[in-house]
Amino acid sequence: MPPPTPIEPKAVEAITANATTAEATPAGQPAPRGFRFRCIACGDLTDSAVQNFRCSRCGDLLEITNPNWSHAQGSSAPTATDLKATWKQRRASLSPVDLSGVWRFRELLPTLENLHHVISLREGNTPLYGLPQCSRMVGLPHLFAKHQGMNPTGSFKDTGMTVAASFARQAGFRWVACASTGNTSASMAAYAARGGLRSLVLVPEGKISWSKLSQALDYGAVTCQLRTDFDGCLRLLQELVLRAPVYQLNSINPFRLEGQKTLAFELLEQLDWQSPDHIIVPGGNLGNSSAIGKALLEMHDLGLISRLPKLSIIQAEGANALVRTLREADGKRLVTVQAETAATAIRIGNPASWKKAIRVLQATGGACEQVTEIDIARAKAEIGAEGIGCEPASAVTLAGLKKLLKQGFVKPGESVVLVLTGHLLKDPGFTMEFHRGEPLPAAAESDSALSELQALRHPPIVLDATLDAVIRTLEQQEKSNLQA
Ligand code: F0G
Repeated sequence: MPPPTPIEPKAVEAITANATTAEATPAGQPAPRGFRFRCIACGDLTDSAVQNFRCSRCGDLLEITNPNWSHAQGSSAPTATDLKATWKQRRASLSPVDLSGVWRFRELLPTLENLHHVISLREGNTPLYGLPQCSRMVGLPHLFAKHQGMNPTGSFKDTGMTVAASFARQAGFRWVACASTGNTSASMAAYAARGGLRSLVLVPEGKISWSKLSQALDYGAVTCQLRTDFDGCLRLLQELVLRAPVYQLNSINPFRLEGQKTLAFELLEQLDWQSPDHIIVPGGNLGNSSAIGKALLEMHDLGLISRLPKLSIIQAEGANALVRTLREADGKRLVTVQAETAATAIRIGNPASWKKAIRVLQATGGACEQVTEIDIARAKAEIGAEGIGCEPASAVTLAGLKKLLKQGFVKPGESVVLVLTGHLLKDPGFTMEFHRGEPLPAAAESDSALSELQALRHPPIVLDATLDAVIRTLEQQEKSNLQA
């Protein structure tokens, strides 16, 4: 099948102008009953938000707040004991909303007028794995991976998408749209298809993996490969949603982040409400870290957990806007970068949610670090060798953990959860290149680092189709195992 034709950013306007029948307008979206939108910078509280989800006073991002979700607010807060019991009970239920690992936690999500609006693919419900080999390697007995790649479209995006897409449907929108490095678009296209909505995808041409692109095509999205990077796609989308009746589903959309909070609820439930010392996440546009941090703070406020884990964010060295913002500008203004990394999911230089992310780093006492391309490739192979696997962007978590251990920020004996954001099959190109021994970008590393990598490579072996050849290969493998 030929790839979709790349088009100029300007052409997107023409597509949407033709494609949208004005059933819903880009007017304000009301806050769900009992909730309000709050500007993260000036604190302005409003009951409706325009489609770029920015404050009408100062232009900063909005978040969704519910005054009842704090114990400090008095008796109308749900009690921790009741919440835990309700959520546990729902695990035995056969109702579609309870089978969703997101809507099961609906007491701490924005409320739909009617649960019939829910668009669900049974998202969430992701495993928490032990990582015995990595545990031994780094010397941490309590090391876990929360694998969000086990969601229906293979990434954490589904947990946010079910919530935001359901609200789009409730608000009467016919079109949803996103800019993406691949996973958001795959997820959005799937949920739109399930919910009877049309979807418009803007991705940077040539910079996302074919697996992710192929998902959007199969789920029926109008897929535009723009001759720009992710940041250019997002900029354009922000303008588009103010001009056309399309509902934007990037993580700027606070409903997405509400859904992504459930990763933390589910994780803590899996740990029997005992907080780990550290949670480590990859940082791209910084929506996910913000969502997890918001969930931790809400759980703490409500008494669901008695201790806050430290939430740390890891970026690729070539896409390190947050690291530089903290180091060079003390977190006061965003230092943007021209992003370049083979971990294409986080190839982002102008992260939208940087202020939200800094807030959660400060509130939880987490760290922010960067890792090299070789660090990422090695960590990805090490997670693969556990029989789990993940996409390159997710592997920054293990690479970052090694750095945080060296720096003494993570201490031996502490418990750590790595958030694996995407499935191994999301980027087979990266995996094949690695195992075939193709040179890594920016690989100015020592010989010892490169030979360590070599030991992790398992290239495919081409043989004559004879029993002898296969037996010889087995014997050679056995011999090299014994020598290792
Ligand atoms: N890991 C994966 C696999 C991702 O796809 C992304 C982001 C991230 C980490 C970073 O999360 O942006 O919330 O900090 N992917 C977006 C996309 C940008 O379009 O799919 P973040």
